[in-house]
Amino acid sequence: MISTCEATANIAVVKYWGKRDEKLILPTNSSLSFTMDDQLKTRTTVMFSDKFKEDEFWLNGQKMDLSDKDTAERVVQLDLVREKAGIKEKAKISSINCFPTAAGMASSAAGFAALACAASKAAGLELNGKELSILARRGSGSACRSVMGGFVEWQAGTKSDGSDSYAVQHASETHWPELRNIIAVVDAKKKKVSSRAGMKQTVATSPLYKARMEYLPKLVEDMKKAVMAKDFVRFAELTMRESSDMHAVMLDTWPPITYLNDWSKEIMHGAIELNGATPIAGYTFDAGPNAHIYTTKQNVGAVKKMLSEIEGVNKVIECKVGAGPRYVDDHLIDEDGVIIPHEFIEGKGIVVK
Ligand code: DP6
Repeated sequence: MISTCEATANIAVVKYWGKRDEKLILPTNSSLSFTMDDQLKTRTTVMFSDKFKEDEFWLNGQKMDLSDKDTAERVVQLDLVREKAGIKEKAKISSINCFPTAAGMASSAAGFAALACAASKAAGLELNGKELSILARRGSGSACRSVMGGFVEWQAGTKSDGSDSYAVQHASETHWPELRNIIAVVDAKKKKVSSRAGMKQTVATSPLYKARMEYLPKLVEDMKKAVMAKDFVRFAELTMRESSDMHAVMLDTWPPITYLNDWSKEIMHGAIELNGATPIAGYTFDAGPNAHIYTTKQNVGAVKKMLSEIEGVNKVIECKVGAGPRYVDDHLIDEDGVIIPHEFIEGKGIVVK
């Protein structure tokens, strides 16, 4: 009863920022993202055994406290899997983030997607994409998009039980092979306001949020058309404007939430200048100051040059669109249920200590 899965982060171009149900993690709007390549992956092993007295969660080789509110969703996911599979065994989870050091990237989407896949398989379940997406969503909303590769939509759904709130893939990773996401890291510190707390506050207090809700349904359709037609100019403009719209409602929240810093704004201006009338670089920012600049292969050099002139950019990572989760045999737990000591070394990958 062991399984290991690797899943990767996704970067949204139409953002999820607001819930209609906090417990079931149901969003107020549909969102769209690209799943990233292996540079932003998490590997997770799950083992169920009647020898285990309690659930355990190990992250990057360290035992975590599962009663902590930041880790409690792991148990929610394990319980859902146990219920579906009709088993009672406790589980050990061992997970490692293989993100470049100081990437300053949220790893929750990759982590919960990998956990949903590994836990369900370890419990003997054969879940389809929709079921895996619903399970991943219960860990963290954006994780429901990482159970698929390529270009993905999280359909908000309308049902109160969340059974119609899951991700669907509109195009695989081969649809737009020239597309790149250049990540410009300007700050790798943990954010002060979590996405969870921030979006709750926005829904509760922002008058502009209502306008955002009215504007998003058409944007989702326009964005899908632009991506399916590989119309980069249209795609980039919609992406940048959507990023600004989300950050506008964050600022409109009371007390205000600001995730962008001066370097983020320099990057925005650098891209606008580089773009002129015909965009080649479409930036988007999540709940943090680091930029994700969508561009195409032929313009990677120009984007990197623009970034090299901005003093606050500490690191640049060039990602492609990824294929989604995959199961591997390199477990992080041995057959006796002992955590295998391991670490991630940039350039080498996961190394057993
Ligand atoms: C800004 O998925 O981390 O990245 O569901 O509360 O765990 P919870 O939030 P989370 O929020 C992601 C917010 C975002 C936008 C996006 O990825 O769509």
